[in-house]
Amino acid sequence: MIKIRPDFLPLNRPSIGESDIRAVTECMKSGWITTGPRCLEFEERFKALTGATQAMSVSSATAGMHLALLALGIGPGDEVITPSMTFASTVNMIALLGARPVFVDVDYDTLNIKAEDIEAKITPKTKLIIPVHFGGAPADMDRIMKIASDHRLTVIEDAAHAIGTSKQGVHAGGFGNMAIFSFHPIKNITTGEGGMITHNDPLLEKKMRVLRFHGIERDAWKRYGKGGVPEYDIDEPGYKYNLTDMQAALGIAQLDRLAAFNERRASLASRYRQGLAGVGGIDLPGVPAYPHEHANHLFAVKVRAMDRGRFMEKLAEYNIGYGYHYPACHLLRYVKRRYGTAALPETERASERILSLPLYPDMQDGDVDYVCRAIREILAAAGEKGQ
Ligand SMILES: Cc1ncc(COP(=O)(O)O)c(C=O)c1O
Repeated sequence: MIKIRPDFLPLNRPSIGESDIRAVTECMKSGWITTGPRCLEFEERFKALTGATQAMSVSSATAGMHLALLALGIGPGDEVITPSMTFASTVNMIALLGARPVFVDVDYDTLNIKAEDIEAKITPKTKLIIPVHFGGAPADMDRIMKIASDHRLTVIEDAAHAIGTSKQGVHAGGFGNMAIFSFHPIKNITTGEGGMITHNDPLLEKKMRVLRFHGIERDAWKRYGKGGVPEYDIDEPGYKYNLTDMQAALGIAQLDRLAAFNERRASLASRYRQGLAGVGGIDLPGVPAYPHEHANHLFAVKVRAMDRGRFMEKLAEYNIGYGYHYPACHLLRYVKRRYGTAALPETERASERILSLPLYPDMQDGDVDYVCRAIREILAAAGEKGQ
C-alpha cells in the first residue's frame, strides 16, 4: 500500500506566475481596465498564433459560439452537426437559437468526431459542422473540410482544448471557417474566464463586434477617449460579451508562457503513459494516426475494470481529484426530451468510462507517479491483474 498523501491533488490548478500578476497590476494602474488596447493586443497575438486575419476577444468560448452562430444566421429549421462528446455549452447555444443539434459518433480511442460518419448525417437543413479538437488532439480536419466543401457547409472548430494544437504546421483555427478558443481556468492558458473567435471574414467580424457590445458600433474606449463621440444608436439589440483589459493582460502574459506550459503538459502526459503502461482495466487516451502537435489539454482514461463512480470514490480516498469530460450530450435530459434518441455506440461506451486525471503545468513528476501507483493499487484490489 502506498502512503496516502495528506494534501489534495486537484484535477487542475491554473499556473499564475509573477509575470502574470505584474501584467494585470500594470493594467489596473493604467486607468483603463475594461475592453481596450490590451484586448486588441491579445487579439493580434491570436491572429499571429492561428494565421487568421480576424480575432475577437469575448467573455467566454460559449459567448463566442453564441455570437458566431448568430452572425452565421443559425436559427429555427437549421441543423448543426456536432459530436455528442463535447461540452454542453455548444448544444445549449444551438438549442437556444431554435436550431437542431445532429450528433455524430466519436472514435472511442481519440474521442474525436468520426469524419467518416458525418456525410450520412447531412440533410438539406444542415448548415454547419462543429468538430472539437478533443483533449488537444486535432480532429481530422482535411477530411472534414473536404466534406464541408462538397456540401457547401460552414465549419466552426471548437478549439477550446486546442491552444497549441497543430497539424502540418497549421495551428487549430487555421482549418475551418471559424474557431472558438476558451480561457477558462482549466484551459492551456487562462484569463479567469474568456474566449476568442478567429476567422477570415471582415463582414462577419463587423457583425459580431456590434453584437458583442449591446448592438453599439463603437467600442467604449473609443467613445470615451479624447475627442470621442459618446452618442450612439442601435440597429439591432446585442449582448454584453466583451472581455476586459485586465483579463487580456493576463491572457497576453499567459501566451508568453504557452510553449513552456505545453512542453510541461507533454512531459507529464508521457509520464502518465509510462506509469500506466500495461495496467489492465483502463484504456489510455488514443492519439490520431496523422502527424500533429498535441496540446495535452486533458489526460482522459477510460475505466473498464470497475464502475467509474466507484473508481472516483477510490481516487478521492487517495486524495486525488478528477474530471468528467464529458457526459454525452445526447443523453442530457432536455436534449433527449427535445430531440429524441441517437445511436452513438462509441460515444456512450466512452462516456460511461471516461475520467480525466490531474494535469497542469505546475504538477510535479512525483504527483504523476503517485496517481499511477494509486491507480495500480485500486485496480489490483478490484481484481485486475494487468495486461
Ligand atoms: C470543448 C469545449 N467547448 C466549449 C467550452 C466552453 O468554454 P467556456 O467555458 O469558455 O465558455 C468548453 C469549456 O469547458 C469546452 O471544453
